[in-house]
Amino acid sequence: MQIDILTLFPSLFDSVFSQSIIKKAVDKKIVKIKITNIRDFSEGRHKTVDDKPYGGGAGMIMMTPPIVKAIEFVRSPKRLRRVKSQKIILLSPQGKVFNQKKAKELSKYKHLIFICGHYGGVDERVLKFIDEEISIGDFVLTGGEVPAMAVVDAVVRLLPHVVAKSDSVENDSHWAGCLASSVYTRPYNFRNLKVPEVLLSGNHQKIKKWRKENARRTTLLKRPELLKGN
Ligand SMILES: C[S@@+](CC[C@H](N)C(=O)[O-])C[C@H]1O[C@@H](n2cnc3c(N)ncnc32)[C@H](O)[C@@H]1O
Repeated sequence: MQIDILTLFPSLFDSVFSQSIIKKAVDKKIVKIKITNIRDFSEGRHKTVDDKPYGGGAGMIMMTPPIVKAIEFVRSPKRLRRVKSQKIILLSPQGKVFNQKKAKELSKYKHLIFICGHYGGVDERVLKFIDEEISIGDFVLTGGEVPAMAVVDAVVRLLPHVVAKSDSVENDSHWAGCLASSVYTRPYNFRNLKVPEVLLSGNHQKIKKWRKENARRTTLLKRPELLKGN
């Protein structure tokens, strides 16, 4: 998979993408991540990328031309060898709210392009050049960079051979429509809080059954609405 991120703040991605699972996926060449500075596609001496809103009002709005030119650059055939499936996504608080189902869907693409807005958002005409708007929740952040990191992380960990054991993402919350079961590690007894005995029994059938029941109980307790229809 190739992921292109278009942003005005490339260095924000440095630490998040150079550690842990994403770094491993990049090192194993499972994913290629490129960060492109939208400012490189602005015109004029001052490299302007934003301007005052028409009609007045607060905040600066990101201009259409640099964003569209950056999209055209990352899509250019010279840069990419035969990309079969491609999706251009604008991170926006106005998009559909991201979830695990969307992460699974995006993990099937060969090329994802993420556009990070900033300031007062992007000129409405940018929407004509994208496939989809994605939000990470009903709140407003300063920029699309943190949402892009969240979406990229969720997608990359679903790519084959990224997470060590092939079944571990399948045991995660939201994979099968409910939450994951409770987990414990050493010490066995912490201030008289003990690990459930069944997990020490060595009986794999019993442990499997306990985990299934525990996942259902946890979901019922914390997110009962997820079980509707199950
Ligand atoms: C301050 S916000 C602009 C919000 C815009 N004025 C509005 O009310 O819709 C700047 C940028 O942050 C990003 N952003 C903010 N909240 C987001 C969210 N919940 N999900 C995804 N992106 C978000 C978007 O890229 C947006 O263009």
